[in-house]
Order: sequence, then structure tokens, then C-alpha cells
Amino acid sequence: MNSQLLQQIVKKYESLYGSDHIEVRAPGRINLIGEHTDYNEGYVLPCAVSPAIYFAMGSREDGKVCLNSYDYDSYCEFSISQKEAPKEQWASYLYGITQIIQEKGHKIKGFNCVFGGDVPVGAGMSSSAALESGLCLGISELNGLNLDKMEMAKIGQRSEHEYVGVKCGIMDQFASIFGKQGKCVRLDCKTLEYEYSKLDMKDYIFVLTDTKVKHSLASSEYNTRRSECASGVEALKSKYPEINSLRNATVDQLKSVIGKITDTIYNRCKYVIEENERVIKACEALNNNDLETFGNLLYLSHNGLSKMYQVSCPELDWLVDQTKNMDYILGSRMMGGGFGGCTLSLIKADKLDEYKSVIAPAYKKQFNIECKFYAATAEEGTALVK
Ligand code: GLA
Repeated sequence: MNSQLLQQIVKKYESLYGSDHIEVRAPGRINLIGEHTDYNEGYVLPCAVSPAIYFAMGSREDGKVCLNSYDYDSYCEFSISQKEAPKEQWASYLYGITQIIQEKGHKIKGFNCVFGGDVPVGAGMSSSAALESGLCLGISELNGLNLDKMEMAKIGQRSEHEYVGVKCGIMDQFASIFGKQGKCVRLDCKTLEYEYSKLDMKDYIFVLTDTKVKHSLASSEYNTRRSECASGVEALKSKYPEINSLRNATVDQLKSVIGKITDTIYNRCKYVIEENERVIKACEALNNNDLETFGNLLYLSHNGLSKMYQVSCPELDWLVDQTKNMDYILGSRMMGGGFGGCTLSLIKADKLDEYKSVIAPAYKKQFNIECKFYAATAEEGTALVK
């Protein structure tokens, strides 16, 4: 919890709107394994993390929504009943949330909001999901809606689909809302059942290494992957009518439709089927305190993401490759949607400084970019602070 940042946000809120307000913290997330599986009705294994977005919010009686981005020193206002999205790109996620809640039949008042955070933007820690989850909880609290947690995750996801244009799965919003301190949570994206597991890491920790790149392909390729998987399912369905998603398919079934799909579609689908199996194995490994097996699964996941799903980039591949010679790192992979952002590596805690001191100059030499590091621990999900 970044109390100092929250205090600054509250101070700004009070200077603009007075003291009557609520405070919300909505965290970013990491995903241990299970990438690009959520929109294929598969499994994911995320945690909420300590970087978060903080909100100070209070109701207004005139139906206006007044949004202040503390980090960007930017302001946007619209009427709660306005049907046209505001011009400001950063406000589209938030506008979307206000619209979807109302479309669901809830009556809400206008409100004032100051928000800001320490979730690095573009690093693949889902600052946008944190923004959506936090605002959704804030609106629910201010209006006594008592929105259910899963419903809030779905509202955030819909806002992303309808107001941002990324056909994302449910993982990011789910993780930001359902995270628990010291635990990861396995979500079955088909049934939405979930199970928490204690993260018993012995003397290991997760470190994120931020490539500081975000290749422009990210959102268009994301939607392309989604439709490639859907074509794979169509081909499978014509032979196996019971298959509705890659979740129920096996690699053998996929092999039997080889003539009907392109090599690319075959590879995309094979990756997803195998990644789901890896999530199950990774959970078993964690429950058995077998971090070596867990680490190996991270490498296999990266290999699939890079070679078969093709959502990695040279910077991510390079970072993962470097760790293979480091005996204090048990596994590493790209994390999130891909085409930039962070790698996630399982590293011996007392070797973190050594790792940073080797990687930072080497990465700079290779790509002429300063990478960044974040140690990631599992923290509580979106909640009222006050
Ligand atoms: C992005 C999306 C998620 C998920 C990941 C890849 O973060 O928002 O829904 O699909 O990519 O696993």
C-alpha cells in the first residue's frame, strides 16, 4: 500500500471538492502461468500485486462525472447520461464503466474522482484493469449497488471490449478484484470457478524485468490471435461437434484436422491446449513445493508463446535466454499479452541484486534501452481503503 501516494491523491481531491469522499485501492496483476488461455475458456494463475491505482471519489447531485488523472495532470468531464464517449483516450475505459453499469439497470449519481497510481503503464501489469476495477467498486459503493465481485470483473472486461476495442479475456479484471495477499488464484475461465493456493516460495521470489518496449502490434495482434483460435475451434467442431472451445480439445484431435487448418492455426491451438496442461502441472508443482518443476514450466510456456503463438519480441526472448545460464533462476517467461512488457522470472531472493547488475548493462548494450526491475509479491485485490 503506497500511503504517501494515496495521501497526495486525497489532498488533491480535498482541494478540489472538499473532504467528503471514499478511497479505493485497485491493484495491478501478474500472471504466473496460463497466457492467452482465458479467452479460450482455459486456466490462468494470476495474483494481484502491490502497485495499484488509488481513487478518491464522492457523489455529486448534478449528474456530472468529473475525472482528474493525478499522474497525467489531466481533467475530463461528461454527463452521466451522455451517450457520446469523451475525446480523452484515457477516459474511455472509465466512461465505459459508467455506461455499462447503467445499461445493467442501475441508477447512479454523478461523481467527482481523483485517481493516480504506481502501476507502470505498458509493462503488462494491467493498469487498465486496475482502473476499471477501482472505478467500478467506487461507483458501487457511492450508490449502494453492492455489485458482486465477478459482476464487476465482467463490467471491466466489457468496457475494454466495447469502449477500447481490445477483445480481452477476464483474467486481468478478475485478478485485480479477487487477489489475496500471499496467494495466487487459479481461475477456470470456462466455469469461473476459482481456487486460491498459498505461494510458498522458500527462498525464491518473482522478479519482473521490464523491457520498456511496447510494440504497436499489441492490440491488433491480440484480436487476431483470438480469431485464429476461433477458426481452429470451428474446424475441430466440424469433426467433433461436442467441442466448443480449445478447453475441451486434445492435441490428437487437433492433429486429425491438420488438412483443414493452416500451420499457423495449428500452432496457435496446440500452444493453447498445452498451456492449459501446464497450468494444471504448475499448480501441482506449487502444492508440492517443487519450484524446479514450476520453473521449467515457465520456460516451456515462453517457448510456446514465442515459437507457436508468436506474441513475444526480440527483447523478451533475449531476457529469457539470459536467465538460462543463471543457476539461481529456476524459470522465466514473457508475461501478459506480449509484444513487450515484462518477463517474469523465479529467482533466488539473495541473488536479485546480482541479477540486476548483470542484466541492466547487458540489456542496455544489446538494445540501447534501460530496463527496469520490480520484485512482485501477491497482495490483496480491489477494496475500499476508507
Ligand atoms: C492481456 C488480456 C488478458 C489475457 C492476457 C494474455 O493481458 O487482457 O485477458 O488474455 O493478455 O494471457
